[in-house]
Amino acid sequence: MPNADTDFIRRLPKAELHLHLEGTLEAELMFALADRNKIKLPYPDVATLKAAYDFDNLQSFLNLYYQGADVLRTEQDFYDLTWAYLQRCADDGVVHVEPFFDPQTHTQRGLPIEVPLQGIHRALVDGEQKLGITHALILSFLRDLSEASALQTLESAMPFRDRFIGVGLDSAEQGNPPSKFQQVFQKARELGFHVVAHAGEEGPPAYIREALELLQVERIDHGVRCTDDPDLVDELKQRFIPLTVCPLSNTRLKVFRTMADHNLMALLDQGLCITINADDPAYFGGYLLDNFIAVRDALGMTESQARQLARNSLTASFLPDHRKDEWVTRLEAIAVND
Ligand code: HPA
Ligand code: ZN
Repeated sequence: MPNADTDFIRRLPKAELHLHLEGTLEAELMFALADRNKIKLPYPDVATLKAAYDFDNLQSFLNLYYQGADVLRTEQDFYDLTWAYLQRCADDGVVHVEPFFDPQTHTQRGLPIEVPLQGIHRALVDGEQKLGITHALILSFLRDLSEASALQTLESAMPFRDRFIGVGLDSAEQGNPPSKFQQVFQKARELGFHVVAHAGEEGPPAYIREALELLQVERIDHGVRCTDDPDLVDELKQRFIPLTVCPLSNTRLKVFRTMADHNLMALLDQGLCITINADDPAYFGGYLLDNFIAVRDALGMTESQARQLARNSLTASFLPDHRKDEWVTRLEAIAVND
């Protein structure tokens, strides 16, 4: 079967389920915000900054990602960041987003949590009104900080509980297993929030099991290292647990040496609920459609596989069932030669 063409993939309605808003901070916007907030960046210009985006592993990326986030100071900064991302989504045929943001990255620098929350929320509401893109925000805890800090973050966000629908877990994975966060995830579940966690990006399959069993997550973010444990792969398949896979991220952070080595299409063909996502597009060289194209070009992607990936993103979202059904009906009606 021939590969799906780019326009067909673009026209498929898609949800983005693994996207860090701080990771959409393009170098140009970073310089513009640094200027606006009178901050001096440790790089003379955009080209020099971008040349530093040459990562060896997750930690080498996180160092730059946290440094970059320091230019975000006002509600308007978070609005501008989120709005720029939503415009990219519109170009790529993304109809629904469930982005993460890391409150502690900002509260640790002295910003009240409402600064990022309100700026992001206002842009998401505008995205729905002006671009027709629906949203559900996920507040993500930094796993290299303590569980007490995560609990405090959740508590400080409660006055704004209508602004987010779930909690997640990100940052440096190795040495920070999901088991460290059992209490805060239990609390979040009791409060009625959806729960997801990064696991099996660099960390072992045991972390994926912990996220499922101890945190009772509904989706695994990344999860690609599941292949080291065939029984786990079987369980993920039987339970149809969504994996929010980020192909360009995985190659840029050396989880896979090249895109041709990536396991996501093999996992899709085995019947797992694989979705494609951009993670931190400003740092990894592409937004959602770029990720689809990179996978197609390296591994092959038929129209039926592209449709399955898009379908998975819709069914794995936290949209109400009737909204999922509507989108899936529209997805099935997308013809190849429209
Ligand atoms: N992994 C872990 N933490 C992160 C990532 C990621 O890919 N992106 C932003 N924070
Ligand atoms: Zn991520």
